[in-house]
Amino acid sequence: MTDRKKVILPTLFKKVTDGEPITWLTCYDYPTAYLQEQAGIDMILVGDSLGMTMLGYDSTLPVTMEDMMRHTQAVRRGAPTAFLVGDMPYMSYQPSTETAVRNAGRFMAECGCDAIKLEGGVAMADRIKGIVDAGIPAIGHLGLTPQSVSALGGFRVQGKSAALAKKIVDDAKALEKAGAFAILLELVPDRLCKLITERAENCIIMSLGSGPDAHGQLLIYHDMFGLYPKFTPKMAKVFGNGGEVILNGLKQYAAEVTNKTFPQPENWFGMKDDEYDDLLKML
Ligand code: KIV
Repeated sequence: MTDRKKVILPTLFKKVTDGEPITWLTCYDYPTAYLQEQAGIDMILVGDSLGMTMLGYDSTLPVTMEDMMRHTQAVRRGAPTAFLVGDMPYMSYQPSTETAVRNAGRFMAECGCDAIKLEGGVAMADRIKGIVDAGIPAIGHLGLTPQSVSALGGFRVQGKSAALAKKIVDDAKALEKAGAFAILLELVPDRLCKLITERAENCIIMSLGSGPDAHGQLLIYHDMFGLYPKFTPKMAKVFGNGGEVILNGLKQYAAEVTNKTFPQPENWFGMKDDEYDDLLKML
């Protein structure tokens, strides 16, 4: 493990004050969390995108609290000092503020989260307020909000017209007023992200595909390493082709087993002659 001190809210706000961008990635499992911890990533989001990246659904809607909690607990074991954010799945907060507070509390108490994230603006501000009033740090998510992908007309840039951009500005203000300490802007135009960042008073603005002028950046881990087979969105930079490396390894394994070059003596364990002879006598 690293000797990094636990990343806490003041650590994140200090980075903002110092003008140092915050790093944030999605993560869904123990070994990847371990690597992200080693790399010194500030924040980790166990996103409900795990429905697509890990479970193979076509959307995030089938993901349950139980799915989220199992993965979030594993990530916390791998990344003990990262600022860990649990993503509230579909219908874990929409029905009522009470439902929202109860499920947010489960992320904190049962998964070791430092904060939760939920999607929506003005309409979800009372959920954010309820969660924050319960002592739980909350992050809002605006722009392309995958749980509403059907209502938004697909995975596309949001807030391109002045009127729609104004709605996102108003949503951001409502979330900040409700007590969100951070807001994620996903797939909105760069100038809109910059404007919201400049106007934020005590709120960290994070960008996912929304340009460089936020307080930090989020990427989906699977998009960074070519690990999602269905598509790689334009906003993602591929930092290494992990999918190709793994595929080549798998093909080599299949070939070596088939042609009997794997395993080799260093891959197995022997037994002393006298023990083996005794075994034969016992049979
Ligand atoms: O679930 C997730 O990974 C997310 C990102 C798309 C921001 O919410």
